[in-house]
Parts: sequence; structure tokens; C-alpha cells
Amino acid sequence: MSHTDPAARALPTERDAGPFDPPREITRMRAARPVSPLRFPDGHEGWIVTGYDEARQLLADSRFSSRQDIGILHVPYETPGMPVPTEPSPQVPGLFIAMDPPDHTRLRRKLTGAFTVKRMRRLEEHIADVVEQQLDALARLAPPVDLVKEFALPVPSLVICELLGVPYEDRDTFQTNSARFLLKEQTLEEKMAAYGAMTAYLAELVTRKRAEPGDDILSDLARHDDLTIEELTGIAFLLLLAGHETTANMLGLGAFALLEHPEQLAALRADPELTPGAVEELMRYLSVADMFYRYATEDIALGGETLPEGSTVVVSLLAANRDPRRFDDPDALDIRRNARGHLSFGHGVHQCLGQQLARIEMRAGFDGLLRRFPDLALAVPADEVRLRTDMNIYGVHALPVTWTDTAR
Ligand code: HEM
Repeated sequence: MSHTDPAARALPTERDAGPFDPPREITRMRAARPVSPLRFPDGHEGWIVTGYDEARQLLADSRFSSRQDIGILHVPYETPGMPVPTEPSPQVPGLFIAMDPPDHTRLRRKLTGAFTVKRMRRLEEHIADVVEQQLDALARLAPPVDLVKEFALPVPSLVICELLGVPYEDRDTFQTNSARFLLKEQTLEEKMAAYGAMTAYLAELVTRKRAEPGDDILSDLARHDDLTIEELTGIAFLLLLAGHETTANMLGLGAFALLEHPEQLAALRADPELTPGAVEELMRYLSVADMFYRYATEDIALGGETLPEGSTVVVSLLAANRDPRRFDDPDALDIRRNARGHLSFGHGVHQCLGQQLARIEMRAGFDGLLRRFPDLALAVPADEVRLRTDMNIYGVHALPVTWTDTAR
């Protein structure tokens, strides 16, 4: 970047205001300057958007390109020594989260049919079964157990594997590589190795599906002659990663948040009808998929600032969702509030494709967990729970829990 702004700050990552709250510096930035200059770890300068209105405006504005590094790879900013991007990055085939229209539109359109509200409703009962089976298995274990390993991760992994036609037996391959891939502080080589291992596995899988399609989403896509194997692989990668890491962290961190807010937990236990609203509020309050990257394709006015062409822009969905100009008492977890309008699934053309699926999984997951484990409790002091400040999707690495009683 040619400009240098003495006000530019580094991106704060420590959760110094508590495990569920944005870093204090982020909250200060939003109050003082909702579109602020930012210094990236590699030294280059860009912008961070922390205000709700500004974030929403940015996400709806097609002049902000999603062709930012290689999308979810986030490589150039976290890897010192990488060249500063001077134009939108080349596209990775199939990774439509990091594409702009019309390329984005062409690929996303092929999937909208598979993820409609109607299709997802039909899955509801089956997802409830998956949750119950996982809770049965959990109830057979002797506490303390890690709720992430035994519940929060398996539920969305099982569901997305089945939908996509990825054998769940292969979960070690994709769970380990996804986790490696989402680790912030690593070299480009390490990141590319995890990405390479994942795509090698998926390329083979989609090639088999093209030859012998089954009854699943990847097979349906493989039937499209106009999608290359590279594109199918990229789409599979995106769906598999987005489909299990995000929801798993919402279930894990969400359970932690409820256990740390006993009055909210008691209200939810007393009235399961509150679950859909509680899920939206947990989505707003926790915003596990927090930081998204954009690239200004021209000079753009936003929040009283002018973002020069070529700027890297980061939007913090967590900060936006805690904006007091949009939500009253935003730092309180209140499962009875109307949290609709939160930006945790994004906004605009890239708004989350899997949001209905995620909602169904979270409703069934929290409902089942609270019903089956009436005295669920943390098995360690709250400050010993390991937070995922080192990962690109926030949450807890593990959640040791205990109970004395189980119910049907
Ligand atoms: C996009 C969050 C679950 C698939 C997004 C975006 C957000 C998000 C914020 C927008 C990204 C952007 O604007 O650059 C979440 C959260 C989830 C979740 C918090 C869980 C609670 C899922 C699930 C799937 C999924 C279960 C399964 C298929 C996708 C895809 C995109 C996306 C494919 C890219 C859409 C596009 O570029 O058009 N998600 N997501 N997500 N999500 Fe999710």
C-alpha cells in the first residue's frame, strides 16, 4: 500500500475481555472509527470494518472483490515475507467463496437446489436421529469426556459426509487436514501441504463419482459435464470444510457459553420452544466465523473513509454483531432477544449456502444435549478451557464436561 497511516494497528487476537467477547481493542476501534486502518502481520496496511452498518454495506457491495488471496487460505497476510497483493488473486477452481460474479454465480447456482429450505426440512428427522445416536454413545462413556471430540465434531461431520457422499471412515484424513489448514501461524509450505493432502484425497473421490455416481451431492455435481475434476475437487473441499468446522465450533463454544450463563441455560431447559431463537442469539453472540477478507477494486467510500483501490479489507462479523447501534446491550447473551439480522452467516451474494442445514443441526444438537444431560457441567475451571485463538474459526479445542444423570 502506498499510504501509511500512523493510526494503523495490528489485528488483536487475544481474547482479553473474556472467551466470548471481542478483543478490547476491536471494541475500541468500533467506537472510535468503525472503518479503521490496519497493519497486517506481513507489514502491509489495509482496513478493518467493525461497525454493523458498515459491514453490511461492504458485504453487499460488489466493488469489494472476494478474490482475496486464495480465499479461506488467507495466506499473504498471515505469512511474513509473502508479496503484498496488487490485484485480485487468480482463482482456485471450484472455490467459489473466493470468486466474484459471474464465475461465482455459475458455480453457486449448481448447488442452490441441493441446499433449499425444503430439502433441508426433509433432512430434519434424519439429523435428529444422528444427534440421538451420538448422544447415546456419549451417555455410555464415563465422564469426564471431551464434548468436542464426542459430540460437537462428530454430528456435523457425519451429516456433511452423508450429504456429500464422503466415507465417514475417512474422517481422520479430512478432519486432521482441515484443522491443520485452519491453523493461523504456519508456513506457506505447511498450509499448502495440508491443502494438497485434502485435495489429493478429494480429487480421487470425485473421479470415482464421475465414473460411478451414487445418490449424493458430489455425484449429482459429477454428472454435470461442464464441471472439471479440478472444479469438483474445489467445491468438495469448500463444502466439506465449511460443512463441519463451523457448526462443530458453534456446538462446542455454544455449550461452553450456555454453561457459563446458568440463568440462560435454565430458561432454555425450561422451555425448548426458545431453541430456534437461542440458536440465532448464540450465532450472533459467538460469531465463530469472524474475519472475512475483501479487496477494493476501486476507491470506495465507507463509513466516512475512502478505501483506496487495491486495499485489503477485513470485516469482523463478531464486532459488527456486537455493535450497540444495532443491538441493545450487545455484549449480553440473551436467548429471548430478537437476534435476527445478525451477520454470522454473512450477507450479500456469498451469504452462507449451508445456513439452513447449520440451523437444523444446532437446534437438534442443543435440544438433545440439554434434554439428555440434565446436570451437564464443566469438568475443569472455565479458565482452563483451551480457546481456538490460534485458528481461523474460533471455538474451543476441547470442552471437558461431566454429569451424574442421563435422561431419554
Ligand atoms: C459462506 C458462516 C455452516 C457452506 C459462509 C459465510 C459465512 C458462513 C459468514 C460468508 C463468507 C463470505 O462472505 O466470504 C457459517 C457458519 C456456519 C456455517 C457460522 C455454522 C454455524 C455451513 C455449512 C455449510 C456451509 C453447514 C455446508 C454446506 C458454506 C459455503 C459458503 C459459505 C459453500 C460460500 C458461499 C458463497 O461463496 O456463495 N458461511 N457457515 N456453511 N458457507 Fe457457511
